[in-house]
Amino acid sequence: MARENIIAGLDIGTSKVAAIIADIGSGDLDEIEVIGVGVAPSEGLRRGVVVDIEKTAASIRKAVEDAELMAGVEISSVYAGIAGGHIMGTNVSGVVAVSGPNHEITQADVDRAINAAQALAIPVEREVIHVIPQGFVVDGQDGIKDPVGMHGVRLEAHVHIITGAVTSAQNLVKSVHMAGLSVEDIVLQPLASSKAVMTDQEKDIGTVLVDMGAGTTDIVIFKNGALMHTKVLSLGGWHVTNDIAMGLRITPQEAERIKKQSGCALVDLVDDTETVAVSLPGGRRPRLIMRRVLAEIIQPRMMEILDLVAREIEKSKVVIMGGVILTGGCALMEGLPELAEYMFDMPVRIGYPRQLKGLVDKVNSPIYATGVGLIIFGAEERQKGKRPKARFKSSRQFEEILRRMKEWFADYF
Ligand SMILES: Nc1ncnc2c1ncn2[C@@H]1O[C@H](COP(=O)(O)OP(=O)(O)OP(=O)(O)O)[C@@H](O)[C@H]1O
Ligand SMILES: [Mg+2]
Repeated sequence: MARENIIAGLDIGTSKVAAIIADIGSGDLDEIEVIGVGVAPSEGLRRGVVVDIEKTAASIRKAVEDAELMAGVEISSVYAGIAGGHIMGTNVSGVVAVSGPNHEITQADVDRAINAAQALAIPVEREVIHVIPQGFVVDGQDGIKDPVGMHGVRLEAHVHIITGAVTSAQNLVKSVHMAGLSVEDIVLQPLASSKAVMTDQEKDIGTVLVDMGAGTTDIVIFKNGALMHTKVLSLGGWHVTNDIAMGLRITPQEAERIKKQSGCALVDLVDDTETVAVSLPGGRRPRLIMRRVLAEIIQPRMMEILDLVAREIEKSKVVIMGGVILTGGCALMEGLPELAEYMFDMPVRIGYPRQLKGLVDKVNSPIYATGVGLIIFGAEERQKGKRPKARFKSSRQFEEILRRMKEWFADYF
């Protein structure tokens, strides 16, 4: 199997690390085939941010080894997702004069306009993760997607810039390096998820994607095909589990178990007669509780999180015609779409990752939206002809060189 066709996505989440290996064929989205999936519990993160590099590296190693075993190929680099409360999305614009012959706009003018936008206020302690063009204005005419070839004297670029704390990005990259891999690129987790669960039409008409994981709730809002708003809230399913553990005085493990098995985000959906068996700490006899009591703990926390999401939608000032898509593990909770519809007063659907070829059943859950999206992101980059960036090269240069030499010789013979 030719190595260039193999791509790996590494979703380093607060509850799990998921590694997905795919053969992208010629790079066309319809050809992508999932060939390996590995999942390991994640123990080195808090609220989406790496706080223990060694533990994170161990989880990465485990997930990647399982995926490699299934795929029958070894990987050396990954597209890694990043999230955490330090992530910031800002809309900026930059203006340049079109200088070429006949005032015909070239790619160089577009790049200059985007650079001019970027030059504005990016503090040194922040790493630029994505620079996403939203649209261009040529001599006052707005709504232009691709100005190359048009004539004009003044070109303005509207750009969405996503930055993160340099230290958080470094710790993430270091964890991947410690697991023996290099990073082709770091990708904002909800941007990756959006590639897996949103349609182009939804991106056009104004749609909100909410990826509710264990430690973070990530929000991205698209309109006119472009990313308009980004926010990462440091709240997620972990907080719900914690509330249950505190409220019922049980272990977090038992709270997590009953939440997944019997949790409901809307009290009104629960029948008054339903009960849940709960194990108590210290080997005491299990106790029966009303399922309604469990829902009464879950609903207020979910409402708190959804309320913060609603405020972000309002803040974005984007007119939403496509409603809200819920993805991430929490999207599996019964009653959450109904509660969200009530809170947002908009249609809500659950975001399952788009069907790829290969081991689709292994990744057919909102839990894998980010991992599948990382593969699609990587495939798109490869199709654009982008080679891996040098900025996240492995520190183990000697081994890297040795590996390359082996590859050269393999090619040679
Ligand atoms: N069936 C279910 N019902 C309710 N909640 C669920 C269910 N399955 C998983 N979850 C919750 O989803 C969360 C894990 O989701 P996910 O795998 O998307 O998170 P993550 O990617 O590890 O974390 P993050 O993206 O926040 O860093 C956990 O809090 C878990 O309790
Ligand atoms: Mg996640």
